[in-house]
Amino acid sequence: GRQAWLRYAPLSPGHNTPLPSSIIALNSSASSPVNTAGQELQKGIQGIFGRHLGVSNTGKEASSAVVGTVEQFQKAFGSSPVKDALEEDGFWLNVKGSTVQILGQNERGALYGAFEYLSMLAQGNFSNVEYATNPAAPVRWINSWDNMDGSITRGFGGNSIFFADGQVVSDLTRAAEYARLLSSIRINAVVVNDVNADFRTISPENIQGVGRIADAFRSYGIQLGLSLDFASPMELGGLGTYDPLDAEVIAFWDNITAQIYDRIPDFAGYLVKADSEGTPGPLVYNRTLADGANLFAKAIAPFGGIVMYRAFVYNQLPDEGDWKADRANAAVNFFHPLDGQFDDNVIVQVKYGPIDFQVREPPSPLFANLLETNVALELQVAQEYLGQQCHLVYLPPLWRTILDFDLRVQNQSSLVRNVITGERFKRPLGGSAAVVNVGLNDTWLGSHLAMSNLYAYGRLAWDWTLDSEDILHDWTRLTFGLDKTVLDTVAQMSMASWPAYENYSGNLGEQTLNDILYTHFGPNPQTLDNTVWGQWTRADHTGIGMDRTVSNGTGFSGQYPPEVAAMFEAVATTPDDLLLWFHHVNYTQKLKSGKTVIQHFYDAHYDGAETAHNFVAMWESLKGKVDDERFEDVLFRQGFQAGHSIVWRDAIVNFYNNISGIPDDAGRVGHH
Ligand code: GCU
Repeated sequence: GRQAWLRYAPLSPGHNTPLPSSIIALNSSASSPVNTAGQELQKGIQGIFGRHLGVSNTGKEASSAVVGTVEQFQKAFGSSPVKDALEEDGFWLNVKGSTVQILGQNERGALYGAFEYLSMLAQGNFSNVEYATNPAAPVRWINSWDNMDGSITRGFGGNSIFFADGQVVSDLTRAAEYARLLSSIRINAVVVNDVNADFRTISPENIQGVGRIADAFRSYGIQLGLSLDFASPMELGGLGTYDPLDAEVIAFWDNITAQIYDRIPDFAGYLVKADSEGTPGPLVYNRTLADGANLFAKAIAPFGGIVMYRAFVYNQLPDEGDWKADRANAAVNFFHPLDGQFDDNVIVQVKYGPIDFQVREPPSPLFANLLETNVALELQVAQEYLGQQCHLVYLPPLWRTILDFDLRVQNQSSLVRNVITGERFKRPLGGSAAVVNVGLNDTWLGSHLAMSNLYAYGRLAWDWTLDSEDILHDWTRLTFGLDKTVLDTVAQMSMASWPAYENYSGNLGEQTLNDILYTHFGPNPQTLDNTVWGQWTRADHTGIGMDRTVSNGTGFSGQYPPEVAAMFEAVATTPDDLLLWFHHVNYTQKLKSGKTVIQHFYDAHYDGAETAHNFVAMWESLKGKVDDERFEDVLFRQGFQAGHSIVWRDAIVNFYNNISGIPDDAGRVGHH
């Protein structure tokens, strides 16, 4: 349960390796990550091998596991063995039998290295190794959508581990346990409150409260961040305005920022959702989004903090009858003209697709439109539109479609993953944030299997080139042990899960087809059209899809650089899985696969539901190989998914059968 992938379960007998006979943690301060690393090494080796090692802060190097920073090592032993350059948070791992060196560029890096060594041992990997590793980008954050009343927006795993009844909870055991999990996957900051922020977040009492969370995080190398309500100067400060250029407003934020740093000297930074879905922002005063972002950037710069300013800014669209109206256009329309105007400690945080965490979207074109601005990628580990942890949906294969997409900016290789790290446009900052809605439930996310998404997010944020299935194998061994059948079965289920979900929800880039008005759960295709939310499919009796071409539609395809724009502009060159994202076509339009659009809907839904159904038997085959508690828990969820996938299948195929009047070739749907 709560240990997730950090169980340190005993290896079956027969696994033997030379182990260090003691642990040297080169820093004795109790709250330091190096001290934590020493304790983890002790706990891990005890758990995995049943061997108790002492921890001290000096001793002989030979036959010891030494953990600390490079600097601490040099002080203790004279010279540094590290052969490669280390960047911030990076580490060096050198395992030579029983002599182990784990050296971080900083203390946090040393802790990461200790977890890496333990991960090898727990997976029965006893190789001698010697390497340095550095993060792909400095920002590897988590966004929690926790509210001060203890509820969680789109939370599917119980109430908040941080807040209850308008304040920070007194028992922060879970917060510390969470920080431990996160540091093992090299996350370095957590924003603890919802993007639709409460102005009381920065009240004096609450600053003290979140200060205690920061204290609980600190020894794991996790920093704290906060979401802000843009109107706080008015609501909390009693000013008559929150205009970002007003002198009193500026003074208000300077003062708040100083108060925060006074309590939390290692505070990471702010997250801002402004002018979006009803939240206040600079546009209210005819100021630009850059004015808004720079307001916070200037307040926090003296303390070394950063501002994550969300690109999720759009206006409601009243009229679907307007063929050219398109919510997908909003981000580039708002942000592209401001490129170059954001301060250097601002990062524009961009959701992976132009709409909202759908089962299939093209990458946001904003990644190709900000060449002089830091950007970060926003992902969801919370499965908001994707089955809400009641469905197994392993997300890295979806994320890969975004990360590996080549935007061809200036006709040159411009993979999204190289844009967000800052590498492509030589930006000083970059990285990612994932929305993670862990709660008080013992499984954290409400589902044991869903934890592979959290694990994978951390691994990828460190190295965006990692293979989805390799990551999954590591997670499975750490979570369920080394049994080959378990490993293969969990991999088979997980790797088939996102394609299956796409098959029985929304196909061909027509979005997820959830209920979008309230729950974002379960099928409700009729809610997508004729609402102000602009998540339209334009389904009528003859055709379906948003015409986003420049020649005849909303012009969205023209927001990509020329080579990509040309590909999406024509039906012939648009990949099938994004056809309805970019084009309005008849149901009888032939796909590259040779099927018609409508027949593809029918077939995909039957295929997807069948795959989900098969997960039940696959999981059942693991009885006795997984402990009963987790076995039963997962089995229950797989049973639900199997049933719900049929609900999905029938709702969607009947909807399109009714609206198109076209029978299913295989005779499964409707009248014929
Ligand atoms: C989604 C989600 C909202 C959230 C918003 C955001 O639309 O349903 O609850 O506030 O995203 O990311 O800001």
